[in-house]
Amino acid sequence: MADYSKIIDFIKEVYGNKEFTPLSVPKFIGNEKKYLDECIDTSFVSSVGKFVDRFEDDMAKYTGANKAVVCVSGTNALHMSLLMVGVTRDDEVLTQALTFIATCNALSYIGAYPVFLDVDRSTMGLSPDAVKEWLVKNAEIRNGECFNKNTGRRVKACVPMHTFGHPVRIEELVDICKEYHIELVEDAAESIGSRYKGRHTGTFGKVGAISFNGNKTITTGGGGMMLFQDEELAKMAKHITTQAKIPHRWEFKHDHIGYDYRMPNINAALGCAQLENLDRYIKSKREVAAEYEAYFKNVPDIEFFVDSPDTYSNYWLNAIILKDKDAQLEFLEQTNDKGVMTRPIWELMNRLPMFENSETDGLKNTIWFADRVVNIPSSVRI
Ligand SMILES: Cc1ncc(COP(=O)(O)O)c(C=O)c1O
Repeated sequence: MADYSKIIDFIKEVYGNKEFTPLSVPKFIGNEKKYLDECIDTSFVSSVGKFVDRFEDDMAKYTGANKAVVCVSGTNALHMSLLMVGVTRDDEVLTQALTFIATCNALSYIGAYPVFLDVDRSTMGLSPDAVKEWLVKNAEIRNGECFNKNTGRRVKACVPMHTFGHPVRIEELVDICKEYHIELVEDAAESIGSRYKGRHTGTFGKVGAISFNGNKTITTGGGGMMLFQDEELAKMAKHITTQAKIPHRWEFKHDHIGYDYRMPNINAALGCAQLENLDRYIKSKREVAAEYEAYFKNVPDIEFFVDSPDTYSNYWLNAIILKDKDAQLEFLEQTNDKGVMTRPIWELMNRLPMFENSETDGLKNTIWFADRVVNIPSSVRI
């Protein structure tokens, strides 16, 4: 059995030798209290208030999206994104099995089916090669739409996920989706601040969904956001996420089935303050990642996962790759015993009871990662 105590000492040292080193905790060093006080003092804590509009505008500016629309969670944002690109019951959605459950929950709310394709060894995200190979084998275009020849179902969307903040090879996915008439929705829940060739993740697809859950790089307590290039679509999303109410001074008229997915002003206030410090947070996270990278270069049988050329990752969660499943379990056991919080990568989606009958392409790299990856402490260090 390997002894990981030297690594445990190093990780503790990175975060100032505390009794307990968490995986990822939020940081509040800016205007959070001031903006929250303002909400309470003015009584604008709920569905109306200036911080909602401001947070959307600030995020659009930060990411380069034409329009941003806030939601109550990243899961809501994904659900709404899929509805906005026209996914309906019995459609198929190409995505990765190596993801958090929310990606699949969102498409399941609509009654769509996931098709799980492999990830790249270099990004841990959906592989354009795997997508292309599956489409060449299984897809046919009829009347301008893509169908799975074997199931007869329409293949409506593709949802890559930027795993742990590391951007996927998104430009190639854009081209493939265009060729096959498939809508591209980016699950950018983990990748705020991450860029591919300088362009923010979540702005390549028709819609991109971001999460502001408490464990993310910045948080609104709970919350999410959709990024759009198409302003009309964004307008529609805003309408649908706010009960589809036709604006009027007193009438309650609604023209569509709507959702109460709007983010309260008090959460948006927190988001505005957090966003002011996002670049500082990412700088700190990348410094921590660089320290890990340098350290693990000299550790046999463990690889520290780094972002690939052309990308700038926010290093939301740092990941190491151990030599096999036994080493992964031993590392988890020893670190958690000694007060260093670590977690394995998610259980693969196709191994969960709800998705065990889903189509896959064999998932070679996916399974390789699942048996080896462990996330190590990654909080902002300021
Ligand atoms: C990949 C991925 N997708 C979606 C979500 C959903 O976000 P939320 O927790 O805000 O609903 C998360 C994060 O929690 C995530 O990591």
